[in-house]
Amino acid sequence: MAQTAAKYHEKTSYDRSSMGGHYLDWQNQPSVFKTYDGLKTISMSRGVPLPRKDFFSLYDDLPKSGIEHFAFDLELLSKMLLLTCTVTRKARHADGGFYFRSVASAGALYPTEIYLHSSGVKDLEDGLYHFSILEHSLVKLRDGDLSDALKRFMTACKTENCPLTFFLTAIFFRSAWKYRNRAYRYHLLDTGHVLANLELAVKALKLPFEITLDFDDRVVNQLLGLDENREVALAVCRLKGTPDSHRASEPKAIDDLPDKMKKASQVSPQEFQTPEIQAIHVAGYDIMPGNADLNMCDTLGVFAESRVAVPPTSKTVERLPYPEAVFRRRSSRNFIAETLPVSAMGALLGVIEPVDENGMDAYFQSICTGFLTNGVESFENGFYVMNEKATGVGFVKPGAFTKTMSHICLNQEWMANASLHFLFMTNMASLEKSWGPRGYRYAMMAAGILGERLYLAASALGLGCCGIGAFYDGEASRLLGLNAWSRVLYIVSLGIVKSMPGRDHLE
Ligand SMILES: Cc1cc2nc3c(=O)[nH]c(=O)nc-3n(C[C@H](O)[C@H](O)[C@H](O)COP(=O)(O)O)c2cc1C
Repeated sequence: MAQTAAKYHEKTSYDRSSMGGHYLDWQNQPSVFKTYDGLKTISMSRGVPLPRKDFFSLYDDLPKSGIEHFAFDLELLSKMLLLTCTVTRKARHADGGFYFRSVASAGALYPTEIYLHSSGVKDLEDGLYHFSILEHSLVKLRDGDLSDALKRFMTACKTENCPLTFFLTAIFFRSAWKYRNRAYRYHLLDTGHVLANLELAVKALKLPFEITLDFDDRVVNQLLGLDENREVALAVCRLKGTPDSHRASEPKAIDDLPDKMKKASQVSPQEFQTPEIQAIHVAGYDIMPGNADLNMCDTLGVFAESRVAVPPTSKTVERLPYPEAVFRRRSSRNFIAETLPVSAMGALLGVIEPVDENGMDAYFQSICTGFLTNGVESFENGFYVMNEKATGVGFVKPGAFTKTMSHICLNQEWMANASLHFLFMTNMASLEKSWGPRGYRYAMMAAGILGERLYLAASALGLGCCGIGAFYDGEASRLLGLNAWSRVLYIVSLGIVKSMPGRDHLE
C-alpha cells in the first residue's frame, strides 16, 4: 500500500495505454451537502453588506497583528462564510436540482466541508458548529468555549484569543465515487480552492489571521466528530483577536461526539472503502520541520535560458470588483485564439506570487509554478517557470506546447486555444525529504489555492478559466522535460473566451 507521496502519486497516475475505466454507480451517487438530524440550527442572513473592493488590491493588503476590540459578531461571520463558499446558481436536472458554487471542484463533487469554533462572538453562543452551505446556517455540534483545548494542538494562536477558528475537511467518498484512488489529489486541490476563498474573505474584511495545515490530526478529527475513515481535517484558519491575558487552565479532555453525529460523514447509502487514500493520508500524520532553503523550481531539472520582466499589475484592467468576481466565478472551456494583453498577464502573475505572511509561506515552497504561453503579448510561445520572480520569470524553452498539452490532458482539445496553461509542479524526492508524506498535502493544497486565485482573477478580468486535474502524468513531465522525480500536480488553463458561462463577455 502506498505510504509515500511519490508512491501514491505514481500509483494514481494516468497512463494512455492502461486506462481501465469504471462505471459510475448512480444509485450511490454521494450527496454534496452534509446534514445532521435534530441538532440546533442558527440561520444567518444572506443580505449582509459586503466589502466592495478592487479585486487585485486585496493581495497587497495583509493585516498582520491583532485588532483590539474588533466586533466579532454573527453578521461578520455570515459575510465571511458567504465570501468563502456559497451557492451561486441552481440548475434544474431531470433527477432534481444541481447547485453551482462560488468555488470550483473536480467533477463538481465538492468534498470539502467547513466547521468553526466560536469564542466570544456576539449573537452566537460559544461552541463548535458545522456550516451548511445550502442553507447558509450553522449546526451546533458542541457547547462552550474550547479555546484552551485548541491551544494545545494548534500551532497558530498561542498568544492571542481567537474568536473564530475555521476547519476545512474532505469527505473521501464524494470524489472517490468517480475518481477512485486518484481522488486524494482532488480532496487536497479542492480544499485548497476553498481555502483561497476564505483567505481572500478575511483579507477583504481586514481581519488578522493565520492558516495552518499542521495540527494533531487525530485530535482535530475527534473534536469535529468525524468518522476518520470517511472524512478528515485538512486545514485550519484562525482569526486573531486581542492578546490573551487569560492564563490557560489545564485543558479539559474533549469527549467523543455521539456515533450518530459521526455517521453524518457517510454521504451515500453504500460506500466502498478507500484504503489507498487512507494510507497516504495517515502516512502524513507526522509533522516534519521542512527545509527553509528549498527552492522547488531549482529541483525540477529544467533551467531558464533567459528572463522576461514581470509586467506590472495595471489597475485599469479590472472589470469585476470583489466580491462579484467570486460570485460569478465559473469554469469556461470555449477559449478562442486571441492574444492576451500583457496588462492582464501582469495582473495574473501578481495574484500567484508565492509570498504570504499569514502562515502559508512554507507551504508554497513545496511547489514550483510555471506556465505555457500561446499568444500572450510580450511573451514568446513556450515554457516558463516563476523562479526568482524578482528578476523576472525564467524562459525555459520556446515551443507551441498548449496543443500537445491538451492531448495529454485526456484529449481535452478545447484547452489548445487557451492563452495560458498554468502548471503547478513538484519534485517528489525533495518534497518527501523536506516534509515526509505530509508534504503531499502542502503541495496539492498550495496548488489548489493558487488555482482558485487564478480562477478569481480570470473572473475579475472577464477571462475564461478551467482547472485540469485529468492528464497522463508521465507524458506531462516528458513534454516539459522534467527530471525523473518531478511531476505536474495540477494545470489551470486560462484565456480569452467566446462568452462566460452565466454572463455575457464583458467588453
Ligand atoms: C481540482 C480540479 C480539477 C478539475 N479538472 C477538470 C478537468 O480535467 N476537466 C474539466 O473540464 N474541468 C475540470 N475542473 C472543473 C470542474 O469540472 C468544475 O469546477 C465543476 O464542474 C463546477 O463547475 P464550475 O467551476 O463552473 O462552478 C476541475 C476543477 C478542479 C477544482
